[in-house]
Amino acid sequence: MRMLQYLASASVIGTVAAAIMGSYVRGMGAGLACPDWPLCHGALIPPLELPILLEWGHRLIVLGVTLCVAAVGLLTWRKRLPARFNALQSLVLLVTQAVLGGITVIVRLNPAIVALHQGLALIFFRLARRAGAGIAAHDAPFSRSAGPGCGQVKQFVV
Ligand code: HEM
Repeated sequence: MRMLQYLASASVIGTVAAAIMGSYVRGMGAGLACPDWPLCHGALIPPLELPILLEWGHRLIVLGVTLCVAAVGLLTWRKRLPARFNALQSLVLLVTQAVLGGITVIVRLNPAIVALHQGLALIFFRLARRAGAGIAAHDAPFSRSAGPGCGQVKQFVV
């Protein structure tokens, strides 16, 4: 259960990191630094120069979040936890968000698509938190072992 709790927390923290990085990409005008998708400049690992690093970094963080969310989905399903439905919803929305991220690039940052991409990020964050909260409800021993400082951080992430 503790591993599940860590994975759920990592999904939420990773989502915040992806959103911050995404806003930075936008602020720096680096949205098209990777002009293609799912590859970047036709490669898995593109030239590591500044504007490219930002957009590619955004995608890389999302890849990490995707692995965590997929693991949470798998484990909650195996253990038949009630949180498995929230976990599945988050996974479906994350895949949709990743595809929308790709469309954002393909349509050359069409403002409507970028707005949708940002809105979906908020909904996804909410769903990932809900799945985490459901797991925490089944994880009393870990909750008790968290020290006073950890409690507040935990409350935020799950
Ligand atoms: C968990 C998944 C994701 C989250 C939470 C997320 C979140 C965000 C956020 C909050 C922004 C800033 C939008 C703004 O300030 O208006 C952004 C920008 C962006 N995202 Fe994502 N994103 C995700 C996945 C992806 C993926 C997989 C791609 C793949 C290409 C992508 C491509 C972009 C691009 C190109 C921008 C810059 C848009 C611009 O410059 O106008 N995103 N993202």
